[in-house]
Amino acid sequence: MSGGTQKKEVKEKSKKSESARMPSLLRGFKDVLPGEEKYWDFVFRSVSRIAYEYNFSFINTPILEEASLFERSAGESSDVVSKEMFKFLLPKSGDEHDQRREVVLRPEGTAPVVRAYLEHGMISQPQPVKLWYIGPMFRYERPQAGRYRQHHQFGLEILGDASPLADAQIIISAYQIYKLLGLDVVFPINTIGDGACRSAYTNSLLEYFEPFSRKMCPDCRKRLKVNPLRVLDCKDERCQEFIDEAPQIVDMVCDDCRTHFVSVLEYLDELDVPYVLNPRLVRGFDYYTRTTFEVFLASEYEDKGLRATALTGGGRYDGLAEMIGGKQVPGVGFGQGIERIIISLKEHGDVAICNRECDVFVAQLGNEAKRKALGLYERLRAEGIRVAESFSKDGLSAQLDRANKLNSKLAVILGQKEILDGTVIIRDMVSGIQEEINYDKLMTEIKRRLKSVSENGGGIRVDDCVDHATDTSEEFETIDDVSLDENVLDGKEVDR
Ligand code: HAM
Repeated sequence: MSGGTQKKEVKEKSKKSESARMPSLLRGFKDVLPGEEKYWDFVFRSVSRIAYEYNFSFINTPILEEASLFERSAGESSDVVSKEMFKFLLPKSGDEHDQRREVVLRPEGTAPVVRAYLEHGMISQPQPVKLWYIGPMFRYERPQAGRYRQHHQFGLEILGDASPLADAQIIISAYQIYKLLGLDVVFPINTIGDGACRSAYTNSLLEYFEPFSRKMCPDCRKRLKVNPLRVLDCKDERCQEFIDEAPQIVDMVCDDCRTHFVSVLEYLDELDVPYVLNPRLVRGFDYYTRTTFEVFLASEYEDKGLRATALTGGGRYDGLAEMIGGKQVPGVGFGQGIERIIISLKEHGDVAICNRECDVFVAQLGNEAKRKALGLYERLRAEGIRVAESFSKDGLSAQLDRANKLNSKLAVILGQKEILDGTVIIRDMVSGIQEEINYDKLMTEIKRRLKSVSENGGGIRVDDCVDHATDTSEEFETIDDVSLDENVLDGKEVDR
């Protein structure tokens, strides 16, 4: 057999085995499985509650955006734009209105929110406009623990307000979310000046780093050419000693930027926010001006400083709207990574997370009973009672097993005899005591029994989770009890 034929056969074979292979989860992506639901629910409830309390309105922008939105705002030289975007050309559609634009899966949420603000004329509404969002973001990064190619963020943005009070309100709302989540965090904060005063600083950085450039990492050598400020964000060991001695921007910003920063800090003092000044904190996108901040678990920041895993990134971006072709609109906001928060909740949280439990389990025996049980389930649900069933199971012990697993307080059992007698069996799932009662009295009896369980310290509903975040009654599973089954990816080191 000739070499060419052999190669062709190998190719055919691997093509065949590839087509026989079951498609699997892509590297860097993550399935959120039912066991994690309580964390997602807890995070969602916490953020939506704070967004509501601080008067932010919900906004949902598409996952697909024009590539130029991020190229102009985050900047061509940012890591996200230069190497991490999922970018492609829209396919030909045959429709004359469709253009073959270059599009991306959005890597972040701020530029899309500002685009929507401009496009929908929110500039003519009373200012500021306060918006919040939650959804997936996509970055083609090297997957590691806490770093995914699809992650989820929620963010709060205040548009149309240049005052330092807006910065403080953004930071306090982020802090209130962490308080609800029960995480002990710290806010490193810095100012990076504005377009005018930053160039003097950039020049002084260039002058300072130039003599060491050959000893620095290849990425930093590039950064020195395109955006020297980003050198300060480098995690490479080779660059740290030079970064440590670099000039600090806070000494060089103009009077307006300094006054703005001092006011932000004064407000934060007033509000008891745990911030620390960090002159090395620059952010990875071009759109930031003045205030920049991140959030870390306090214990991790103490160990690793800015090299720890950031839970949140944020700051002011007064030039963003202009960068994408709109009018000048001041803005400030933050984005929090949900996966990272959940990892932290599992490892360090001391709050209670609600289990999905039920109050009443409806069990049935026989076809007739199944039909009646279906109606009973709907009645209980409509009354706002947490109800569960296992209609696909016919055996009573399998159904009661399920009721036990769900920590159900009561089970209602309907069989052939009960249907004929117009009765129903009600079982206390803790004591195992059963009682036959008249079907017409069932709802009153269930409510009476649930009320007495709740008066004795149990029966808190899922809706109450956030309110009871510090309650450690046995209705809750504490974070310590939850197994750490995080779908950790292949790298060991966790960085920002
Ligand atoms: P960012 O710092 O790039 O900022 O991302 C915000 C947060 O998203 C990070 O602190 C982190 O928790 C999470 N995150 C980022 N990349 C990943 C990843 N690959 N895997 C898991 N989590 C990740 C922004 O995106 C800005 N839009 C924030 C902002 C809003 N600034 C002003 N307003």
